[in-house]
Amino acid sequence: MKKENFGSQWGFILAAAGSAVGLGNIWRFPYLCGQHGGLSFILVYLLILFLICNPLMVAEISIGRTSKSNCVDAYRIIGESVGLKHLRLWSFFGGWFAVIGVTLCLSFYFLVAGWVLYYFLEAMSGKLLQIEQSQLAAEFEQLTKSFSIQLICGWIFLFTTTLIVIAGVKKGIERAGLYLMPILFAIFILLCLRSTTLDGAEKGTSFLLTLQPQYLGWTENGFNFKLLSETFTAALGQAFISLSLGFGALLVYGSYFSPKENMFKAVRHIEFFDTLAALLSAVIIIPAIFSAGMSASSGPGLTFISLPHVFQHLSGGHFWALIFYLLLILATVTSTISIFEVLTNLLMNKLNMQRYRAAIVVMFIAGFCFTLVTLSFSGALDIKIWGRDLFTLADWLVSTYTAAIVSLTMALFVGYKAMKPIIHNIRRSAHVSSAFTRYFLVTLRYIAPLGLSILLIMAIFS
Ligand code: PHE
Repeated sequence: MKKENFGSQWGFILAAAGSAVGLGNIWRFPYLCGQHGGLSFILVYLLILFLICNPLMVAEISIGRTSKSNCVDAYRIIGESVGLKHLRLWSFFGGWFAVIGVTLCLSFYFLVAGWVLYYFLEAMSGKLLQIEQSQLAAEFEQLTKSFSIQLICGWIFLFTTTLIVIAGVKKGIERAGLYLMPILFAIFILLCLRSTTLDGAEKGTSFLLTLQPQYLGWTENGFNFKLLSETFTAALGQAFISLSLGFGALLVYGSYFSPKENMFKAVRHIEFFDTLAALLSAVIIIPAIFSAGMSASSGPGLTFISLPHVFQHLSGGHFWALIFYLLLILATVTSTISIFEVLTNLLMNKLNMQRYRAAIVVMFIAGFCFTLVTLSFSGALDIKIWGRDLFTLADWLVSTYTAAIVSLTMALFVGYKAMKPIIHNIRRSAHVSSAFTRYFLVTLRYIAPLGLSILLIMAIFS
């Protein structure tokens, strides 16, 4: 089968940034920021980005680019080239766990994507702005109880994603990134300007700029490790989801990335866009929430319950609500494409399927899982595992286990076993200084495994 490639370096950067920037940035980051002390959370997040995620991201993209293969066989191909044993084990933890993670991710991501579409339509019809303030929470709850509306909205997203993926890497995925990302950032800036100039927004801005040491463990009664570890695990889990790290998506995009293009430049840009999108989202949402006299720590409902309240009190609220939910839709599509592509690429590679056939099979697999999750979440079907509905279960498994296990495998694989071919591959397109090699080695061998082990151990015991 002919190997597909991105047409240019910017094609790759924008597609990968499109994968990264999604609900994770706009929906998840601001509410976690609100719950974990604003600036304290941001600082821990940035530190994690530099010490754990940056080297892992270079590693994941490089594994794809070196092997030019799918997320499962990549480990075998590179492993064979360095005479590694237990290849199946590496493929199992690095590859098949990514496949599990990405399937779980698909099954609940389309549900949240459906909510976004529903709120967009409500904003368009003007209904969103007419709902009584006290009814906003009830409205959201009603949506989560209605399996039919959630299924219809989610399936619309699923069809759209399938069509883009069928169009291929250059015509579908690359073009979507190239057109949608600039629009996305233009909307971001517009919303930021509006939000920070609202009456009373300063309280939100100062919340984001003031360090609250208790979230880093420094309380009046001395050091509290539990508080610090809560901030740390929330930030690390968020970083994985936000950067699409540990799901095989970067690996697959990396396999389409020409070996001649500069890897460091690409990674720098993807991280820059992703972090900027997360910070801008916090700057859009938190000051607006404060200006409406509401609390920023209200959790996942922030985007769907608190924010509509803000739009109701804004002059031109109708317009801003439309723009905001449109932003969410665009960001969501560029992310679902990449989650979808991991499985499509696997089927094309492993079973020699044509792209459109593979994409349709993935659509049915994703559609089946998503439908099951929706039925369980809405209560239409009484399926619970370990006391959790399937939505909560999938979200929990993905944010605490699968991405962390895949990332730990990648860190050990590149750090201890495959450093040579990976560095060799990076060298083909960029100058690799000895300082970078040292940083890469130390972070992958020691710092990332330590951080990831803490996350996994805490998750198991909590
Ligand atoms: N990074 C995306 C977001 O922030 C989610 C995602 C996860 C995309 C895993 C691809 C793979 O919303």
